[in-house]
Amino acid sequence: MLFIIKLIIIKHTGDFMIITIASGKGGVGKTTTSANLGVALSKIGKKTLIVDGDISMANLGLIFNFEKNRPSLHDVLSGECDVKDAIYKHKTGAHILPTSLSIEGYKRSDLDLFPEVISDVADDYDYVIIDAPAGLNRDMAIHLAIADKVLIVLTPELFSIADGIKIKQSSEMAGTSILGAVLNRTGRDFGEMGIDEIEMIVHEKVISTIPEDENIRNATLKRMSVIEYSPKSPSSKAYMELALKIVGSYVDMNKIEEEVYNKSFIDKVKRIFLRFKNK
Ligand SMILES: Nc1ncnc2c1ncn2[C@@H]1O[C@H](COP(=O)(O)OP(=O)(O)O)[C@@H](O)[C@H]1O
Ligand SMILES: [Mg+2]
Repeated sequence: MLFIIKLIIIKHTGDFMIITIASGKGGVGKTTTSANLGVALSKIGKKTLIVDGDISMANLGLIFNFEKNRPSLHDVLSGECDVKDAIYKHKTGAHILPTSLSIEGYKRSDLDLFPEVISDVADDYDYVIIDAPAGLNRDMAIHLAIADKVLIVLTPELFSIADGIKIKQSSEMAGTSILGAVLNRTGRDFGEMGIDEIEMIVHEKVISTIPEDENIRNATLKRMSVIEYSPKSPSSKAYMELALKIVGSYVDMNKIEEEVYNKSFIDKVKRIFLRFKNK
């Protein structure tokens, strides 16, 4: 089944990249990463669509205050409207395809339509970020198969690592390569697993480390991405750095002078990005 989906999707010829944000375990930070990576990419001038692919337990819309918007992805997947009508422009510049919180909407949805829905709009973007559900069911298989790359979200705990390995294997079965791992919520527990140990177990590179940061929770309470809520916070910097790595111009945020933060942090990052791009 995976193979067939891949064959249909792989035909895309556009310049866009579809990245599925996945983890075996729930609650590790997929939605947080999807939202903030998407916003970070937008901030550096990349046209980005963030999709709430978790159609049974949707919560990406909550971060952007779009969870009540209609139509939503549920209406698209029940064949009631065109996908373009369910995409909303957020004030950060990112485009969002939210999913409603309704169980009835979920029941009407047919995820088999998802690959076609995404390929209908992907050409309009540089990046399509898909917030995937937890687990390894058929829905997950579709999300892995339609991606160009999978970003695995892990926390430095054994259960999360073990489930991450299963996602990696499933991605490989779907013919989709892994972009790397995002190690989220570091610095929370004394004696947590280290990056080297995790890379050795998963056989994937940890391309980003997102520290435990209370700004993330506070941002969600204010219905914002952490990049909007607190652009200079450690997690915002880490997400900006991840976005820059993905677009291919790596900048170590810790090496940017402190005085920079007195000016507009995001503007500075954008200028650095453009400088690299124009080289
Ligand atoms: N780096 C972090 N620091 C603090 N809290 C975090 C961090 N990452 C995620 N969280 C919190 O953990 C919870 C689960 O995150 P979420 O992104 O919804 O996970 P998932 O989508 O994988 O289920 C949320 O309440 C979120 O605010
Ligand atoms: Mg989630």
